[in-house]
Amino acid sequence: MNAGRPFIVAIDGPAGSGKGTVATALAQRLDFAYFESGIFFRVVSWRALQLGVRPEQNAELEALIASPWLREQWQVLDRTLLREEHIGMFSSEIGKNPGVRALFISFVHQEISKETAKGVILDGRDTGSAVFPDADCKIFLTASSEVRAHRRFDELRARGKEVVYEEIFQDLHKRDANDRSRPVGPLQIDDTYCPLDTSNLSIAEAISAAERIVRQKYLHSEG
Ligand code: DC
Repeated sequence: MNAGRPFIVAIDGPAGSGKGTVATALAQRLDFAYFESGIFFRVVSWRALQLGVRPEQNAELEALIASPWLREQWQVLDRTLLREEHIGMFSSEIGKNPGVRALFISFVHQEISKETAKGVILDGRDTGSAVFPDADCKIFLTASSEVRAHRRFDELRARGKEVVYEEIFQDLHKRDANDRSRPVGPLQIDDTYCPLDTSNLSIAEAISAAERIVRQKYLHSEG
């Protein structure tokens, strides 16, 4: 563990791989803080859409991120609004912008430096590669595209949304391609990550498997 900062667990993976569910449960079990990095992109997207800023308008996006608005609002905005599919897609588009990614990294570093918990779980696409390459524990969560699309479909239906499975599948596919192919901060696994495929695991099994990985590293770090 690095002196002066909490134990950092980075959980990265594609949309619908179960990162949020696993990270939230792990944070509770371990008494760690949870930092959902995708919310940064979702809040910026929400605001950009409100102001009519397009994903390719780099200067406008960067000004929006630098404004005090983001720091004031990012914890306060209604998360249900932010979870809409079109916000996820817009987030993936703005995530291609290198200027936005640089500002994202400094935003996360600033937020984590204020953290007083003994550990923090971050989830996203590049939290263990670009944001905290020296994270104490890195998990790469995956599941097949069909399983992920079904999970998203069920989640949206449970929230009373009229959705078509094929559209969800296509959106997920497009978002994966965007998130994996961008030159800066792409979603990619390397051998510093522990891979965890949740395609055939229940939620409880996925959480327990991730917990075993983290506890092993955490105990090891405490010597
Ligand atoms: O994790 P999520 O589905 O809420 O993220 C929404 C989008 O935000 C994702 O498709 C790409 C972008 N994102 C990113 O570029 N880097 C991150 N660390 C987290 C999210």
